[in-house]
Amino acid sequence: FNISNQTVTAICPSNIALIKYWGKYANQIPANPSISYTLNHCNTQTSIEFLANEPFSVQTFLAGNEEVKFAEKIEKYFKNIEQYLPWILKGKYIIKTENTFPHSSGIASSASGFGAIASCLMELDKTFSSEIRDASFEIKKASFLARLGSGSACRSLYNGLVVWGKTDEVEGSSDLFAVKYPDSEIHPIFKNFNDWVLLIHEGQKTVSSTVGHGLMNTNPYAERRFQEARENFVPLKQILKTGDLQNFIKLVEHEALTLHAMMMMSEPAFILMKTGTLEVINKLWKFREETGHPLFFTLDAGANVHLLFPENVSSETIKNFIETELLQHTQKGGVVKDVMRF
Ligand code: PMV
Repeated sequence: FNISNQTVTAICPSNIALIKYWGKYANQIPANPSISYTLNHCNTQTSIEFLANEPFSVQTFLAGNEEVKFAEKIEKYFKNIEQYLPWILKGKYIIKTENTFPHSSGIASSASGFGAIASCLMELDKTFSSEIRDASFEIKKASFLARLGSGSACRSLYNGLVVWGKTDEVEGSSDLFAVKYPDSEIHPIFKNFNDWVLLIHEGQKTVSSTVGHGLMNTNPYAERRFQEARENFVPLKQILKTGDLQNFIKLVEHEALTLHAMMMMSEPAFILMKTGTLEVINKLWKFREETGHPLFFTLDAGANVHLLFPENVSSETIKNFIETELLQHTQKGGVVKDVMRF
């Protein structure tokens, strides 16, 4: 390796899972396959200044403010991936990151954050290495490295729909890195989709996703849940191909509620939804029943509600309903409007 001082930059979007990853084995191996939409506007921009031949240390800044806790996390992460990037402990790092979405809004920054860091590391690796490698290798290794930082981050390296975890339903899928779900197998209705994130509760979550994953180890329903997630890939594949929006809605909402049901059935139990989360879900169901408009939701490991709806003829009515009826259940009228377009 021929290391030298370098500054590299990368941008990586966040993602929202449709079939959820919840539960894992050692070394960030997922207990079941998952699939997500990569977002467009919610992203992390990261620059890494590498000072070669200095003692190994990491300094991190989030939106200009030094973050010591995050630096400790990254130091541990770099030590953990040394076996895949042999030069990584041979220098000092100054890492600067900014998110396009509000800090501590409850929108997960770990997926976009680790995705961006992994992309930066692959840029450094490329300049330090004399090997000739193709672009598909680079992105696969970036996804592999991102997974070791935060599992769901490995899906953020690709746009569109992205699968992580081995499933017979998706060719080339792996537990070690994510792969793109083939665009040619996706009906156009799913390629121009809105995701409006209602910021129900801003601030720290009471239970981290690391702890949440861990509680699946003793959850009596875990095996059944993993099996269901695997099975859900079979109808989903058909749904995506044919543009079956009604069954898409059913499957995606079921996945979101199952994720939160698993939390409630953990020992100790925990609940990340807030009153506003339930109020929004009930209003949304009533609206859908009365109007038939395809507005539905998914949830992350938090209280925020991701409102999903295709961009088409009925989207104006839907947007109107969200603004007049649902925004009032957020803490500060907060909504982040994203869109998936590919
Ligand atoms: O990547 P982690 O460890 O933060 O776990 C994320 C888990 C969920 O967001 C709840 C689901 C998913 O598949 O993204």
